[in-house]
Amino acid sequence: MALIEFAGVHKSFPPKVVYAGLDLTIARGEALTIVGGSGVGKSVMLKLLIGLLKPERGSITFDGKSVVGMSPRELAGVRQRIGMVFQGAALFDSLTVRENVAYGLREHFTMTEPEIDERVDWALSLVGLPGIEGMNPAELSGGMRKRVGLARTIALRPEVLLYDEPTTGLDPINTTRINNVIMSLKSALNVTSIVVTHDMQSAFTISSRLAMVYKGRIVASGTVDEFRNSNNPLVHNFVKGHAPVDEDMASLMARTQ
Ligand SMILES: Nc1ncnc2c1ncn2[C@@H]1O[C@H](COP(=O)(O)OP(=O)(O)OP(=O)(O)O)[C@@H](O)[C@H]1O
Ligand SMILES: [Mg+2]
Repeated sequence: MALIEFAGVHKSFPPKVVYAGLDLTIARGEALTIVGGSGVGKSVMLKLLIGLLKPERGSITFDGKSVVGMSPRELAGVRQRIGMVFQGAALFDSLTVRENVAYGLREHFTMTEPEIDERVDWALSLVGLPGIEGMNPAELSGGMRKRVGLARTIALRPEVLLYDEPTTGLDPINTTRINNVIMSLKSALNVTSIVVTHDMQSAFTISSRLAMVYKGRIVASGTVDEFRNSNNPLVHNFVKGHAPVDEDMASLMARTQ
């Protein structure tokens, strides 16, 4: 059974139509990467899944339950199981790194201080930043802030992790580090992950499957090899970094559907 399912989802911010029939199923343990141009709705998809946004039509289910129409309490339960690493990790500048990473633990769980310390250490080590608990966010580089944001979400040990552009703006070493974190969470804890990225190299490294969003729908979905060798011009152009003009796209769409 699918762990996550979007079926016939429509979402607009009038007059802008973002989704006009989004269909996507994700199985437990998958590492799915969502690709697509800027503004196609990748972040919106993640927000729909955790109920931060509501669709006008269609269904979104997580573990057999409809997310659309859930009460705030039920949604809070979903958000304990689905952790989201937001694009542009916002840390609380008035709190230390330790308190930032511990924030959700204090909010959602009853843990002793030693347990919190242990979990914070674990999460910071995983993202390659052991020993920075006492620092303030203002003292960190952009890449470090991003990794602390990731540590904060990982610390909650969610079953599903949503990553919105986890490696954008990071140097190659930190990109590799984050990719390794995503892969080790999957292999060690069977975490299901959905990753939004523009970085095809990362996508090809971490994904068990990729899906491409274009004009309100998923236009392609497949394994790394299928994407690399795709004859679908939309996928091919995206993978190669070409940006054809829109009229071309319309005719390409007609051929590929
Ligand atoms: N809360 C909102 N109110 C109004 N419009 C929104 C809102 N959230 C997103 N949009 C619009 O929906 C569209 C999709 O946005 P989204 O953030 O999902 O794009 P994206 O694919 O994540 O792009 P990027 O790669 O640049 O992050 C955009 O046109 C955006 O302006
Ligand atoms: Mg986005």
